[in-house]
Amino acid sequence: MRKDLIAGNWKMNTNHLEAIQMVQKLSYRLDPSDYDRVDVVVCPPFTSLRSVQTVIETDHLGIKLGAQNVDWHEKGAFTGEIAPAMLAKLRVSYVIVGHSERRQLFGETDQIVNKKAKAVVAAGMTPIVCVGETEDQRDAGEEEQVVRSQVRASLAAIDPETVASLVVAYEPIWAIGTGRTASADDAGAMCAFVRDEVRTFAGGAADDVRVLYGGSVNPGNIAGFMAKRDVDGALVGGASLDPDTFASIVRYWV
Ligand code: 13P
Repeated sequence: MRKDLIAGNWKMNTNHLEAIQMVQKLSYRLDPSDYDRVDVVVCPPFTSLRSVQTVIETDHLGIKLGAQNVDWHEKGAFTGEIAPAMLAKLRVSYVIVGHSERRQLFGETDQIVNKKAKAVVAAGMTPIVCVGETEDQRDAGEEEQVVRSQVRASLAAIDPETVASLVVAYEPIWAIGTGRTASADDAGAMCAFVRDEVRTFAGGAADDVRVLYGGSVNPGNIAGFMAKRDVDGALVGGASLDPDTFASIVRYWV
């Protein structure tokens, strides 16, 4: 059985003091039993990771820590980059890799995403590998072709046992930060497509890999996505910045 996972990607928002308050507020709004049902993850900016880690550990919160990016080298002369081992030491559990903003604004290719995913696994953390088509690609009917090649290349040469433990987030770029979501049917179909694609190279691992939907998820639409068999959770941007709103998304069944 795949456990649901709902992750908040805070992107480039919040300083460390705000981050502390946000994670505390979020924890007040969640019930301890919620964590049995859903893996709840927050992904603050690098500068807030240590502060949020301290709150989580001091208060024994069930919230898990995620990072938004990582470099794939072990260490060395890579000014401005952060190594996987540095995140692991902060007890980061999940690392977003290949977010469309990184692909589009910072030139990350599938090959780089693949190196990062492998480096995250090697450091004992779980990558959340993002894929998704642009609006032009969707209009041209190319969404499956685009997502297929992203999934294959981003997860290339990762053994099936490892693939089984990974998370893939399907985030259509036209739905990110636009208020315009994929329909639950479309999201469900694309997440099923991702899983089927994983099956072609990783066999039964496809039944264990968790596939998330991302793009303008809010408290009003989350239940529709979660009702789809192949949607195992959500990667939430804007709506994760308000603890009340994010808590309502996490508790989508209430
Ligand atoms: P929004 O929820 O703001 O559309 O962002 C989605 C996203 O990019 C999460 O990684």
